[in-house]
Amino acid sequence: MNFRYKNDHMNGPQKPATVIFLYDLPGNLESRTEISSFRRYFNPLMDSGAYKGKFLECVNFYTPFKDEAWLILVGLGKPEDLTEARMIECGALAAGRIRELNLKEGFICLPPVDNWSYAKVMALLVIGARLAIEKLENLKTNPEEMRASHSQRLKNLFFHYLGSKDPMEKPQTIINKADMLAMAQLHARTLTDLPPNVLYPESFAGEAKKLALKYKLRISVWESDKIQLEGAGGIDAVGGGSVHEPNLVILEYDGKPDSTEAPIALVGKGITFDSGGLCLKPADGMAGMKGDMAGAAVVLAVISAAAELGLKQKLVGVMPLAENMTGSRAYRPSDVIKTLSGHTVEVVNTDAEGRLVLADGITVALKYRPSILIDIATLTGACQVALGTQYAGIFSDDKELTESIIETGREVGENFWPLPLAREYEDEIKSEMADFKHMGGRAGGAINAALFLKKFVKSPIPWAHLDIAGVARASKKTPSCPEGSTGFGTRTLLRYIMKNPLA
Ligand code: BES
Ligand code: ZN
Ligand code: ZN
Repeated sequence: MNFRYKNDHMNGPQKPATVIFLYDLPGNLESRTEISSFRRYFNPLMDSGAYKGKFLECVNFYTPFKDEAWLILVGLGKPEDLTEARMIECGALAAGRIRELNLKEGFICLPPVDNWSYAKVMALLVIGARLAIEKLENLKTNPEEMRASHSQRLKNLFFHYLGSKDPMEKPQTIINKADMLAMAQLHARTLTDLPPNVLYPESFAGEAKKLALKYKLRISVWESDKIQLEGAGGIDAVGGGSVHEPNLVILEYDGKPDSTEAPIALVGKGITFDSGGLCLKPADGMAGMKGDMAGAAVVLAVISAAAELGLKQKLVGVMPLAENMTGSRAYRPSDVIKTLSGHTVEVVNTDAEGRLVLADGITVALKYRPSILIDIATLTGACQVALGTQYAGIFSDDKELTESIIETGREVGENFWPLPLAREYEDEIKSEMADFKHMGGRAGGAINAALFLKKFVKSPIPWAHLDIAGVARASKKTPSCPEGSTGFGTRTLLRYIMKNPLA
């Protein structure tokens, strides 16, 4: 499916379908000269109060006269409530409706937004459109159902600027970059949604190997004997209880081969299924735990996309992969394990496994002497409770990095909220037996987890920890995301790498 930019005048709705975005605002239409030629179609509808332009309020009708076109109205809501995330949903709704009408193409008219460039509006609509339209792989065996879920007539979407003065340079580049953010996110979703009997540490590593070959990335995969040989006791312990042995994948992308610059390191939690281990989760808590490798999926998708885009950047991605199960080699509460860093850790609860694999992942990443280290993980139920489904937690002592991630996230419609690396709680992870315990009490659970990770980061390196436990999975569908994994974090990290001043 192709996205293109157009900027010629429209006298009325274009065949076969035209989308107009409207605000929930009295006098909406009077102020919108660029859509004056369309007004006659929806004046009666708006005047009657039957359609207000509320956020995601959508109607479509087949226009009379000679147009023979579908006109689709999509509500933007109140201007003061408009956010980047909302604009993405509007783009998704618009494109989704064109597809539902089973059309081959459609025109999406760019709305004016105070203080936003048309380039930004278009980029957000493109993201939404791609997320809504691309169907993810499924494992249905019934050919009819398979075809139904893949049938796509839609070939072209045109993003149409209706004003007279062309507001942007290189529109196709803007489209392609935005599209890439969405494609990478879809890639992360696909991986995260795969069932745990299909995607386990070794098969995840196999996927990474394929991508490494495709994009000429350097890859090393530590299988379980290498993990043991190196002394990565965190991954070894967590993966011990499963017939699927743990793996650790290191992917390197060098977009600046002539420079000796330090890479940006990304570390993603890759628990392909989290049963809780011997501290077994109740059935309800286990639902969705195939997605406990969402962080690793984001890292894999971001690095592949960076390579596909040919970004001028050095990157290293570390994905510690394990299945947290209850087999006879399973680690236990009270075990003391020796991590790759040399620190010993007393295990309290085998369900707090993510931080153990991340500790080793962080130690591996530090060997690459990165300029910046970011980890991303579905780490704690506590973060989900604190911030809900729309905000990820960000922990960092580096103000600049924190602000930059929050700002980048906002630009691409992903919310991050800062939580403290509170020194006051350091005692929570003190241990009598070992260097630390891996967890403290229930209170401040997300903070305690972050404080544990901090023990493994050598301080001059700017580090941020992103806890995506609440946002990685959607239990209600939206226009841009079906129920299931969201791929949250992909857009922010990829965008962050694109615009990093080093790029
Ligand atoms: N994978 C979970 C965290 C999680 C919870 C992710 C809900 C997504 C949705 C993590 O490994 C876990 O089980 N954490 C425990 C830690 C506790 C035992 C200290 C938790 O949050 O309950
Ligand atoms: Zn767990
Ligand atoms: Zn987990």
